[in-house]
Amino acid sequence: MEAPIGVIDSGVGGLTVVKEMLKRLPNEPIVYIGDDARCPYGPRSTQEVQEFTMEMATALSKMDIKMLIIACNTATAVALDEVREHFPFPVIGVIVPGARGAVKASKTGKIAVLGTVGTINSHAYDDAIRTLLPNATIHPLACPDFVPIVESGLYKSENASGVVKKGLVGLAGKDFDVAILGCTHYPLVQHHIQAHLPSKVQIISSAVETVFDVERILLSKNITRDDSSKVAPIFYTTGQTQQFLSIVEDWLAIKKPDVRHIML
Ligand code: DGL
Repeated sequence: MEAPIGVIDSGVGGLTVVKEMLKRLPNEPIVYIGDDARCPYGPRSTQEVQEFTMEMATALSKMDIKMLIIACNTATAVALDEVREHFPFPVIGVIVPGARGAVKASKTGKIAVLGTVGTINSHAYDDAIRTLLPNATIHPLACPDFVPIVESGLYKSENASGVVKKGLVGLAGKDFDVAILGCTHYPLVQHHIQAHLPSKVQIISSAVETVFDVERILLSKNITRDDSSKVAPIFYTTGQTQQFLSIVEDWLAIKKPDVRHIML
């Protein structure tokens, strides 16, 4: 099926899921919306996040997508069910796949969850982990300062390392062998996170597991694209195209990506 797969996030975070898509499902056309003008979603009310998520999904439904990935934990936590009910195409989020990846990787059942204030307060990860592992010990931590350093493009700076170190102080003295990057922006600062956690801790991002689910749904619904010619992804942002483009070039190693502005 030629129709594209839609991917949405509050900003550039969903590009971490796109990166895995390009590796594993390189023939699938992608159309992405990042709501950078209203990012971060983490501190916003449930109602706002639900409204904004519906707006992005509606815009993509008009582009005739065959499937939607809510590549944002904050939006997945509060809007997945509503979006699923509203549209005819399959919709997947990133929290259940992330929880599954963490439970698979953990030997002790002691898991740290890093996320936005919205995601942590929703307890969506606690629920998803406990469904799979009822006796899990979970250490949730909101890291509100990480998204702004990623959105501003400063994720490689020295300052970023300091911001991450400070943000992780809440985990000092806690025992866990797996940490979930429960926000799709965080893989861009993963090297800093790894550096400031004990070396035995394995870091899990939901992107890899999410793309397994995408592949499974494409196959089960028989909507995989058969043509093996590549189609360049199209990226829409509600914010500054230049800033978005620099992050796409850097993170996805795409030269001259197709980045366009969109109003929702
Ligand atoms: N990337 C998003 C997430 O996975 C949202 C970050 C934000 O906008 O606060 O939660």
